[in-house]
Amino acid sequence: MPARTMKTIETIRQRAPHLQPRIAVVLGSGWGGLTDHLVDAIQIPYAELAGFPQTGVAGHSGSLWLGQLSAQRVAVLSGRQHGYESGAIDGMTEPLRVLKHLGCHTLVQTNAAGSLRADMPPQSLMLLSDHLNLPQRSPLVGSSGSERFVNMVDAYDPALRAHAHRVAHKQGASLFEGVYAWAFGPQFETPAEIRMLRLLGADAVGMSTVPETILARHLGLRVLALSFITNLGAGMSAEHLSHAHTLQQAQLGSAAASRLLADIVAEMDHPS
Ligand code: HPA
Repeated sequence: MPARTMKTIETIRQRAPHLQPRIAVVLGSGWGGLTDHLVDAIQIPYAELAGFPQTGVAGHSGSLWLGQLSAQRVAVLSGRQHGYESGAIDGMTEPLRVLKHLGCHTLVQTNAAGSLRADMPPQSLMLLSDHLNLPQRSPLVGSSGSERFVNMVDAYDPALRAHAHRVAHKQGASLFEGVYAWAFGPQFETPAEIRMLRLLGADAVGMSTVPETILARHLGLRVLALSFITNLGAGMSAEHLSHAHTLQQAQLGSAAASRLLADIVAEMDHPS
């Protein structure tokens, strides 16, 4: 293990000695309310953790939280690095490596996304069944060893997806499922690109998540991912797309999304 990683793990263990996390959660736009559900929470700014990204996007503050959701011990990454910030897509490599070594076996990711389906309107929640890596870029470029040839079949764990549907059903919450297309951004798509994505079989489009899924599978973590739909894709409605609009929509549905997420994580099993 690199010395920097060991030092970061030591820092976290000192700050939260009794909280060995088993599940890691990445919070995207609209999902920040999850931290309100945490019990005995400890917050450590990314700035105090070597190798953690300095995120600069409004609505994404960078902190690692450790705490419990019911009996579940969790680590919450509030804020992620996006490819569109600098072009680098490996910014979450060190945070995920640290959480794996701290004992996490599962990564739950969340994001905000545009819908490509007229029957999945803004405020919907969508479970990712699969993704399209449209930029065809990988955070594993430059790594060595045969493990870098990661198998991406069932990257979004089927058993965890079934679990998420059961929890949503119990809550009476509706939960869509579909394919997430990663668009590099930061510009929104053109209407022609949205038509192309629909033809390619995508159900939602967003600017994150895919690099972290690849990193997590490389580390052997199980992955579950959820999108908060903030808008219909460009050209599918008269709405004017902007980051402010994304954040405003995400804010509106934040409480319901966070409640579902909290229950999904709290009731999650542990792999044998
Ligand atoms: N496109 C890309 N990313 C997004 C969108 C969108 O329409 N909405 C929220 N994130």
